[in-house]
Amino acid sequence: MELIIVDDYESLSRAAADWLVEAIREQPEAAIVAATGATPMGMYIELAQRRFRDRIDTSQLRVFQLDAYLGLAPDDPRALFRWTRRSFIQPLGITQANVVRLAGDAPDPWEACRAYDAAAREVGGFDISILGLGPNGHLGFNEPPSPPDAPTRVVDLTPESIVSNACYWGSEEQVPRQALTCGMDLLLAARRTLLLVSGAHKHQILHRAVEGPQTPEVPASYLQLASTVTVLADRAAWQGM
Ligand code: F6R
Repeated sequence: MELIIVDDYESLSRAAADWLVEAIREQPEAAIVAATGATPMGMYIELAQRRFRDRIDTSQLRVFQLDAYLGLAPDDPRALFRWTRRSFIQPLGITQANVVRLAGDAPDPWEACRAYDAAAREVGGFDISILGLGPNGHLGFNEPPSPPDAPTRVVDLTPESIVSNACYWGSEEQVPRQALTCGMDLLLAARRTLLLVSGAHKHQILHRAVEGPQTPEVPASYLQLASTVTVLADRAAWQGM
């Protein structure tokens, strides 16, 4: 696990964009799973600006949605697919045919999870995983406790995640209580991972994730065992102030 500490959120976003541009140049047809949430947004804006300037070929990239609220149509304002599309898929010009959605609105959500796993297996797993760190140590919506072999599945959100996601949708009542998440097994098997962590409120969980024991209570702690992981954190997150 490589740990890089940068001064602030702007530096984090630039460094993250550098990392991904390099990874895409090495592997233009990479299968990428990409988080929503606040942390990667600066990186995605940076990437959108660089796409034409730096002539980044995104035409062959394949994008997998990381997680989805149960029961929301893709165009619901709260749908994480809509967020991924607006912030990552469209600005990078990724074609619809190269996008795999985690269908939270499917009549049988467990079948949707199996279909997603099958699509990921078909491309040989993820080449690149871009993740944020939940305040409770979750990755995607792999809420604690999540063992490293947890598959793609339907989960109950923890009260902590409901509270932390309420800020995006106005109130806790707006946050669905269940979600579909890409499994720990797929995330930990990604060939390279970038974990982005910003802000003093992530200080304790960041240290538990990178230095603490590997435990289902901190799902991100299993990244210590994964193949090529870069943790990019700002000073506020690392030092807690
Ligand atoms: C988002 C996701 C979550 C977030 C995490 C951190 O698709 O899966 O795991 O990455 O909750 O969220 P922020 O970046 O908002 O602190």
